[in-house]
Amino acid sequence: MTDILTIADLGAEALHNILALSERTDLGRPLEGQGVALLFEKPSARTRNSAEMAVVQLGGHPLYIQGHEVGLGERESAEDVARTLACYHSLIAARVKRHSTLEAMTASVGTPVLNLLSDSDHPLQALADLLTVKQLVGQLEGARLAYVGDADNNVCRSLAQGCALVGATLNIASPKTYQLPAAELAGLDGVRQLADPAEAVEGAQIVYTDVWVSMGQDGEKAERHGALAPYQVNAALLAHAPQAWFLHCLPARRGEEVSADVIDGPRSAVWRQAENRMHSARGAMAWMLGIRP
Ligand code: CP
Ligand code: NVA
Repeated sequence: MTDILTIADLGAEALHNILALSERTDLGRPLEGQGVALLFEKPSARTRNSAEMAVVQLGGHPLYIQGHEVGLGERESAEDVARTLACYHSLIAARVKRHSTLEAMTASVGTPVLNLLSDSDHPLQALADLLTVKQLVGQLEGARLAYVGDADNNVCRSLAQGCALVGATLNIASPKTYQLPAAELAGLDGVRQLADPAEAVEGAQIVYTDVWVSMGQDGEKAERHGALAPYQVNAALLAHAPQAWFLHCLPARRGEEVSADVIDGPRSAVWRQAENRMHSARGAMAWMLGIRP
């Protein structure tokens, strides 16, 4: 299995191997003379740039394609788009509105498929997050993380799956309506759902949040802001976690899920985290090509 659609699908050994590869800059040029399709149905700053540069660093040619250019699911089915891209490229990477689009692609081609964010999962983000935690805390096993905010989203889901696989603990604080479903939580060792943000961050080494309104959820803005307002990561909350670093996948909405003084303050490591998107994308692609540490 060389696709990466979710962190859970990877399993612990593959996850550790990808993180080890991500720390290396001597992977050579396994993509020499080959293309990588980067298909986006949604906007992106970090994922597009980091993935393009990862392909370049592996010696390949990145090809950026917007969903509307190929008419994904309209002019042509996801299956036929994937079959077409597989004629020219060694990897197919896609950011999609619906996770099922990625599943349709993987079912149609033998070429490895990489999830660049879907409505349910953001595995490349979690790889960069774990790499950053490893650098900041020193090790992943036993690391203490807290996630505060909208937990029923792609970023939190992939982070929670990753924490469970590496033996880190993750306390999640979110309102009832925006929790990871109980059935998912039950399968994630070390991941706990709490109501109180202060209790969740107590003793944390990392405090993480993401936007309250993800791409495609603009119609839910008012209700989300209403429910999530008590879950802002600000100086008062971080006072309960005096040792913690702050992480955010970005883009951020200062004054909403995080206060400006926190994200722009001395305990914020969000730019190191953003840089790590490139290193983990390189590690992930190398792993998909069969390279092992
Ligand atoms: N964190 C992240 O995926 O950023 P972009 O949406 O800008 O790619
Ligand atoms: N949860 C956010 C992540 C953006 C990188 C979204 O899906 O918009």
